[in-house]
Amino acid sequence: MAPRSAQWYGGDDRDGYIHRAWMRRGLPADAFDGRPHIAILNTASDLTPCNAHLNEVSRSVANGVHQAGGIPLDLPVLSLGETLVRPTAMLWRNMAAMAIEEMIRANPIDGVVLLGGCDKTIPALLMGAASVDLPAVVVPGGPMLTGTFRGVPLGCGTDVWRLSEEVRAGTLSATEFRKSESSMIRSRGHCNTMGTASTMGLLAEVLGMTLPGIAGTPAPDSRLLSSAHETGVLAVSMVAEGRRPSTVMSRASFLNAIVALAAIGGSTNAVVHLLAIAGRLGIPLTQDDFDRVGSEVPLLVDLQPAGRFLMEDLFRAGGLHAVLREVADLLDPSALTVTGEPFVSVLDGTEAYDREVIRPRSAPLQPAAGIAVLYGNLAPDGAVIKPAAATPSLLTHRGPAVVFDSIEDLHARLDDPSLPVTPDSVLVLRGCGPRGYPGMPEVSNLPLPAKLLEAGVRDMVRICDGRMSGTAYGTVVLHVTPEAALGGPLAKVRTGDIIVLDVPNRRLDVDIPADELNAREPAAEAVKAFAAPTRGWEKLYVDTVGQANTGADLDFLVGGSGDAVSRESH
Ligand code: FES
Repeated sequence: MAPRSAQWYGGDDRDGYIHRAWMRRGLPADAFDGRPHIAILNTASDLTPCNAHLNEVSRSVANGVHQAGGIPLDLPVLSLGETLVRPTAMLWRNMAAMAIEEMIRANPIDGVVLLGGCDKTIPALLMGAASVDLPAVVVPGGPMLTGTFRGVPLGCGTDVWRLSEEVRAGTLSATEFRKSESSMIRSRGHCNTMGTASTMGLLAEVLGMTLPGIAGTPAPDSRLLSSAHETGVLAVSMVAEGRRPSTVMSRASFLNAIVALAAIGGSTNAVVHLLAIAGRLGIPLTQDDFDRVGSEVPLLVDLQPAGRFLMEDLFRAGGLHAVLREVADLLDPSALTVTGEPFVSVLDGTEAYDREVIRPRSAPLQPAAGIAVLYGNLAPDGAVIKPAAATPSLLTHRGPAVVFDSIEDLHARLDDPSLPVTPDSVLVLRGCGPRGYPGMPEVSNLPLPAKLLEAGVRDMVRICDGRMSGTAYGTVVLHVTPEAALGGPLAKVRTGDIIVLDVPNRRLDVDIPADELNAREPAAEAVKAFAAPTRGWEKLYVDTVGQANTGADLDFLVGGSGDAVSRESH
């Protein structure tokens, strides 16, 4: 059967002539004889430092495609540098996914290799590729090496939160804090904690969408390049065999990803990303699946933010496969990988080499550490918490709310000595949902008031309709749905109301009678935080974005359109 690209390059008519002629800049005539054209979707950018090395990775993929008889084509796509773009990279995850989808569909290609790393890039690549459903395989860019400062490891992300809190508490000088900044980013690669980038790189493999064994390979490790080369070879065979995202990723793949998410202690951001990817494929995945399938799964990986080590240690200790071997009985054997094998078969023969980093199932870091989904009068459509990153004694808690209507309100009042806050208070931050901010920023792990930090308090219950950085930690309830900007119950809470958090029973409530809560108007300031944009992407986003409990995709992007393009205007 002729490849899809032959619709452009085949035939002797004028259109075929034009398509071939413009691609003859270096391509020989036999490039158009029906061999697969593989686009390498590259998110390298100087402004996405975590992905800046992907040009080198792309060359290795291209060599593999050539070796297998395909034509590699570089296709730079919209990239998102998590720490740089304002106001928050999540505002553009769906834009990146939409651009990726459209460029895959519009071009004369038969398959794609997806190069990502920094937080939003792998989710956006998978969402876009899933909606077109041409054969696709991911090369995760990999984590950076471990930095050191004053003789001890310095993790990227988690240690920044810790050190900045130490400065606020007066136990670390601003000068020393500044000195540490040149030590943290030791090499190419993405954040090396079990943050969102590490999590999504590993989960891309569990979803079956990478060459088995590649995920977690540190970015500077030469094995990343040889695996990228192999991926190029694989992409050509995937086209020949018609293996598409819809044939690789099934509901079983997503349930396996939920098990893995718990075992590795992965980022809460994976909840919205996996829901969004599943939505593109029409796979019925819900927020409740995360609790049902993942909450009893033990935490086996001792990595920051839940633990001590970093991604380089995980790779040295045996990597993802050694972790999943411990919970192989919880994985659905029907899920496949891009090679066509069952995913569980790639775990055979793997071994853990450092039992401090990868714990045996018999001695986990935590016995039941998956994401918990809470419901109650404060979150009728759900909220999530990552118990692995929380203080156990706070998982059941009752305390008075201290409410902030926006990030700006928080910054203005948090350190006010007169703020009515005690260690038992519950900090509530609203106006940070998908529409309210807009873009659902990673602010839910709001800092603690200075006067409590100075008194030695290091964790409190915090509640927010935003997200939390995967590198953050604390007793944080996030993704509260519906968000305050929609007038949800979160918008009705007042400072002094008693909040009841009961994670064992999956409850999040405000202790006021239902009729009183119903009668209250949403606080004007909470709803005002949602200043409707009037133009551009932000308007499209706010008008069409869904809530966190369904993946925060744009409503018209859920599902897919396939790879057919019926019209051309030469
Ligand atoms: Fe890119 Fe953390 S900033 S992964």
